[in-house]
Amino acid sequence: MSIQVRNVQKQFGDFVALNDVSLDFAEGELTALLGPSGCGKTTLLRIIAGLERADSGQVVLSGQDASATHVRQRNVGFVFQHYALFKHMTVFENVAFGLRVKPRAERPSEAKIQEKVKSLLQLVQLDWLGDRYPSQLSGGQRQRIALARALAVEPRVLLLDEPFGALDAKVRKELRRWLRRLHDELHVTSVFVTHDQEEALEVADQVVLMNKGTVEQFGTPEAVYNHPATPFVFGFLGNVNLFHGRLEVGDSGGLLHTGDSVLPVIGSGHETAGDAVAYVRPHDLDLERYAPGTDGIAVTLRRALTLGPVAQLELEREDNQDVIEVALPLERFRHQGFREGELLAVRPRQLRVFNRGQAVQEQGAST
Ligand SMILES: Nc1ncnc2c1ncn2[C@@H]1O[C@H](COP(=O)(O)OP(=O)(O)O)[C@@H](O)[C@H]1O
Ligand SMILES: [Mg+2]
Repeated sequence: MSIQVRNVQKQFGDFVALNDVSLDFAEGELTALLGPSGCGKTTLLRIIAGLERADSGQVVLSGQDASATHVRQRNVGFVFQHYALFKHMTVFENVAFGLRVKPRAERPSEAKIQEKVKSLLQLVQLDWLGDRYPSQLSGGQRQRIALARALAVEPRVLLLDEPFGALDAKVRKELRRWLRRLHDELHVTSVFVTHDQEEALEVADQVVLMNKGTVEQFGTPEAVYNHPATPFVFGFLGNVNLFHGRLEVGDSGGLLHTGDSVLPVIGSGHETAGDAVAYVRPHDLDLERYAPGTDGIAVTLRRALTLGPVAQLELEREDNQDVIEVALPLERFRHQGFREGELLAVRPRQLRVFNRGQAVQEQGAST
């Protein structure tokens, strides 16, 4: 089932929780709703489910306006952060629950229920736990059972609100891979809420970046990571260096005057000359030994962290003492033989620039 959200507006008192949100969730895709706490993810999910009403705007399910459709008729499965398994029921009965409470006319026979629950427990790879009670399971197992229970009624949409949020990092990582494989088997249109960037980028077909009740960007993980549409997205998806300066716009591109340096930039074409902030990821910076006349920003290497395959370098600008982070493949770092305290030159390979008003506004929003 496809989901369209059209111009949805939602306020709690004076507080605008969702401001003119429009999104298209394609049939069969797994989409992550990603954003900081309080940005409106849960509210949007509840409106899609029909648990909450929008003040204005529409939710369209499979091409039909769902505004008048009750939650129960929307055929939506839910999994929440805090597992809501029934404590007094076995795992088997928890999964069977949605089938047993169906109206008599739609309820499957007992034999069918047994068969269905068994196959769901196999699907979530916990068929050996059917007789246990929720208190006898680990957190990760409980969330897999919660998912099996949500799937029992064959929902056309699956909504997951930080389903792994309460679990520790290692289990969470296992479960998100598992969820991805499960989705590849079932292809139920799914919306997955998370505030964890890595989780969203690793699991989803599409990512929606939300901030303060609005959609900042909607795209594939590759697109949002490599081509952030806004300063907020840039800052939210990974480490980033900021270069403050003044933008000069010419026919063949822009130049950023920052401190004592002038750097060529790529922009969206909408930037205007004047105060600007450039964004660049640590792995998009080149580093070489400084020599008079070298292009780039003169820096001193303050600290080198060489734990993994990538050297994390902390550099201090000579002109304004700002810190710059650079990530260099360890091989290359070793080969160059850079030492702490040495004077180097940093040159961005890619520099995305935003006008200052926009950048300040959005950064403020992200804190
Ligand atoms: N029922 C409610 N009454 C008042 N404020 C609410 C209610 N639900 C959510 N909010 C507010 O709306 C904002 C968005 O909440 P929510 O959608 O839960 O954010 P998220 O899931 O992204 O953390 C928050 O500031 C929250 O305090
Ligand atoms: Mg939430």
